[in-house]
Amino acid sequence: MALLPILQYPDPALTSKAEPVTEFNDELRQLAADMAETMYAAPGVGLAANQVGVLKRIVIIDVSEDQSDLRVLVNPEILSHTDQLMDFEEGCLSLKGLYEHVKRPDGVTVRAQDLNGNFFEYSATGILAVCSQHEIDHLDGTVFIDHLSRFKKERARQKLCKLRHNDKKKH
Ligand code: NI
Repeated sequence: MALLPILQYPDPALTSKAEPVTEFNDELRQLAADMAETMYAAPGVGLAANQVGVLKRIVIIDVSEDQSDLRVLVNPEILSHTDQLMDFEEGCLSLKGLYEHVKRPDGVTVRAQDLNGNFFEYSATGILAVCSQHEIDHLDGTVFIDHLSRFKKERARQKLCKLRHNDKKKH
């Protein structure tokens, strides 16, 4: 197991589309294990392969408080979503320290493959629905501030710059 470095926005891997996984082998299992370790250590509730510089469609999610609900989603897709939107304050390990309110559908059904290539589905509401959408977005090169209006996105980018500047001064 190994901790992987988490890339920071706007690294090109974060704005690139990841490729479907076609081989369900040990390399994939190792990547999933390393991603889970990296997510828990951060700590975070989700991590997409783009964030560790791997352009493959794999996502790790655990929204539980005691690391008891690890989900590994390979080639995940949103099959359907509710019309009802939910406003949730999101953050991202690749935009460290930035939190913004984003509106998304409050319920989704997701289909994905497990590490052996078997398909499965789950329906989610609340934080699991938000997290599923946020992580699957990463695979398409979308980060959460891309959902904001142009004005709010620019303001968020400035906030991020300031955060990083202040961080540098502290160290
Ligand atoms: Ni993220």
